[in-house]
Amino acid sequence: SQIKEVEFVKSSAKAKDCPKDDKPEFAILGRSNVGKSSLINALVRKKEVAFTSKKPGKTQLINHFLVNKSWYFVDLPGYGFAKAPDAAQMNWSTFTKGYFLNRETLVGVLLLIDASVPPQKIDLDCANWLGRKNIPMTFVFTKCDKMKVSKGSRPDENIRNFQELIRENYNKHPPWIMTSSVTGLGRDELLLHMSQLRNY
Ligand code: GTP
Ligand code: MG
Repeated sequence: SQIKEVEFVKSSAKAKDCPKDDKPEFAILGRSNVGKSSLINALVRKKEVAFTSKKPGKTQLINHFLVNKSWYFVDLPGYGFAKAPDAAQMNWSTFTKGYFLNRETLVGVLLLIDASVPPQKIDLDCANWLGRKNIPMTFVFTKCDKMKVSKGSRPDENIRNFQELIRENYNKHPPWIMTSSVTGLGRDELLLHMSQLRNY
């Protein structure tokens, strides 16, 4: 399940411009600044494959990365970037929803959730939308290394609360993994999980 080679393939502005071959792919989705690009870099063990930034809203296109010449990682624009102009927000919902509903090679969505903050409505909405559309997803909790946070906001409590809030909406609770791009927590578990999903 290890990553030996990663190649940036293309950035697409629309779902229909995405690569047309039949390779399986995983989409990385989550709020702006949740750590999507950092997670890709940590999985790949390279610093600058996906571009990270302290400024939210940096990833604005659908970015395809080909892994081991056999499957794709897709870095998507973050949602819920409050400072983006209205037009950009609109663009997110139409083009990203179009991608989820029409991309036949999509094996799973890695929905990234920041474990250092309490459950956010926008993340719950997103998980519920994907669940209603029967799109297979895995909850990937990020920033689990951030232990020094305010009272009532520890990662393990935030994660438990999120799972409680989501539980009743699914027959089968989505799989979930705790990660940190800083310590490498969850890296091997996530790679193994993805290889199992690819081989179904
Ligand atoms: P957009 O592309 O804007 O949607 O953001 P993104 O989700 O790709 O986030 P990005 O990877 O750029 O990370 C945002 C910020 O969070 C950066 O300052 C990262 O260094 C920080 N960060 C990401 N992952 C972790 C983590 O696991 N732990 C800690 N402590 N910080 C993290
Ligand atoms: Mg990014």
